[in-house]
Amino acid sequence: MRIHGDLVGENKTMFGEACLKVIKARNDKFPVGALVLALSGWQTHYLSKDGKDLRPIPFDLDTLSPSVSLGVLGMPGLTSYFGLRLLEAKAGEVCVVNGAAGAVGSLLGQLAKLKGLIVIGFAGSDEKCHWLTKDLKFDYAFNYKKISVDDALKQAAPKGVDVFFDNVGGQFFHDMITKHMARFGRIVICGAISTYNDAEIPKFPQTHLQILANELTIRGLMVMSYDKEFDTALNEMAPLIKKGDLKFKETLYEGFEKMPEAFVGLFKGENIGKAIVKASNYP
Ligand SMILES: NC(=O)c1ccc[n+]([C@@H]2O[C@H](COP(=O)([O-])OP(=O)(O)OC[C@H]3O[C@@H](n4cnc5c(N)ncnc54)[C@H](OP(=O)(O)O)[C@@H]3O)[C@@H](O)[C@H]2O)c1
Ligand SMILES: *[C@@H]1O[C@H](CO)[C@@H](O)[C@H](O)[C@H]1NC(C)=O
Repeated sequence: MRIHGDLVGENKTMFGEACLKVIKARNDKFPVGALVLALSGWQTHYLSKDGKDLRPIPFDLDTLSPSVSLGVLGMPGLTSYFGLRLLEAKAGEVCVVNGAAGAVGSLLGQLAKLKGLIVIGFAGSDEKCHWLTKDLKFDYAFNYKKISVDDALKQAAPKGVDVFFDNVGGQFFHDMITKHMARFGRIVICGAISTYNDAEIPKFPQTHLQILANELTIRGLMVMSYDKEFDTALNEMAPLIKKGDLKFKETLYEGFEKMPEAFVGLFKGENIGKAIVKASNYP
């Protein structure tokens, strides 16, 4: 199956989700002023033909910013919710998550903590790691730019890792499979951000024997496959967010023209939590 072949390309509108405010309406379901979610891509204005491509925010925002509908209570939040379920983790098990201070990872780690797991996060700065251990109560957080996965896990998971939620792929994934998974370990592949820009598919030594000998389970995750359960999941998570049992951050870029900068920033680790662009210069 080709990946992203139809989504991204020269002269195509870049894909992406937005929280939009209705400014003109001929559909009673979406009056002027209403907030709606749509996969409208990178454009300042969006015209919906029949409203079928628009979704109302399925929970009460109360005092929350509408931006949460794109982050902690949006697609990334849902990804961590269904991701944790796919890991089939039990209390007391050891969990590793990378991209841990990002939108998906920071929530996945907190949901795993609420479930009673021992959570080890990897992120790309000391500031991010400090946030993970001090505010989000991760058991360990390591700056992967300063310490190798091997050294970190020798210290934090000497008996091996039961569940691994992978946002990064590449060398990190390979190190985990070959050296750190416990017997009957489970891996959910959510992303592979370290390889998205590779011109060639990276080559790694075979990992079949380690997967076989440790009897590992590896699952891919596509959040859109769970769309029938989105509203239920969000209404389960929203109270946890409002009570502060789940914490979150957003990195805000002001102005629609910051879209490319915000996007490139993802690959440089500029964001803590969800990267949000506020198109404040448009009505
Ligand atoms: N499967 C699905 O349905 C689904 C849904 C949503 C997202 N995703 C995937 O899940 C992952 C996380 O998404 P997100 O929205 O939560 O993004 P994010 O984590 O908020 O932002 C990306 C982060 O990745 C880290 N990163 C960038 N390049 C890296 C590299 N070479 N090695 C290690 N870390 C690197 C950076 O943090 P550091 O400072 O830590 O490097 C950056 O802040 C992405 O791979 C995304 O594609 C999958
Ligand atoms: C994109 O648009 C430019 C300008 O109209 C054109 O020259 C170019 O061939 C287009 N590229 C593709 C792949 O359609």
